[in-house]
Amino acid sequence: MPISEIPSLLSNLLQSRQTILPKRLGSPGPDAEQLLLILDAAAHAPDHGQLLPWRFVVIPDGERSALGRAFSDALLERDSSALPEQLQQAYEKALRAPLLLMLVVEDQRGDAEIGLLERVVSAGCAVQNMLLMATALGFGSALTSGKALKSTSLRGLFRLNTHEYAICFLSLGTVQRAKPARVRPESDQYVTYLSTESE
Ligand SMILES: Cc1cc2nc3c(=O)[nH]c(=O)nc-3n(C[C@H](O)[C@H](O)[C@H](O)COP(=O)(O)O)c2cc1C
Repeated sequence: MPISEIPSLLSNLLQSRQTILPKRLGSPGPDAEQLLLILDAAAHAPDHGQLLPWRFVVIPDGERSALGRAFSDALLERDSSALPEQLQQAYEKALRAPLLLMLVVEDQRGDAEIGLLERVVSAGCAVQNMLLMATALGFGSALTSGKALKSTSLRGLFRLNTHEYAICFLSLGTVQRAKPARVRPESDQYVTYLSTESE
């Protein structure tokens, strides 16, 4: 296909996705119909062996305080001398962005030859599909990780078993304030060509 025919819709979509941190995501978030479109987008990710090694947990408004307590408990696990204001800051991280989901990947189901790295790649594709669908619907989005994801308190709250990993959170909402677009790397910064010729 000639380059001029590459659908500009897709390249515009790819270029318009950028991280908008949760503190800059306000209401409204996706409604029920939009949420379904975003969740369905994940199903189009490549998935070696169709293991479905990933899943998403939606954290509804009514459960945000439970997540906030898990965040502050996670901080206490790491630092028993954490100050009340630090614990409060950790708690409040759970209250940002109108839609919050957590990505979980597991490393056991199905063919053991399909290792964790492949499973995480599949999860990353699913996440990107969701981010692009959210962008197409006009929402801002962010991925966030952090030490709490490995904490006993958070793993307990989400009832993760020993084969499950909490990878990151997805926050979605209406952009309150965006930063200028980030300069993207050129492909020659991340692509080489295999060559068997000696130098
Ligand atoms: C798995 C994952 C976890 C991330 N966690 C954080 C985070 O905790 N805090 C943060 O500011 N950004 C986080 N990011 C977002 C990156 O920092 C962001 O994608 C990067 O700055 C590039 O910006 P862009 O998304 O606008 O291209 C995470 C990204 C990924 C893929």
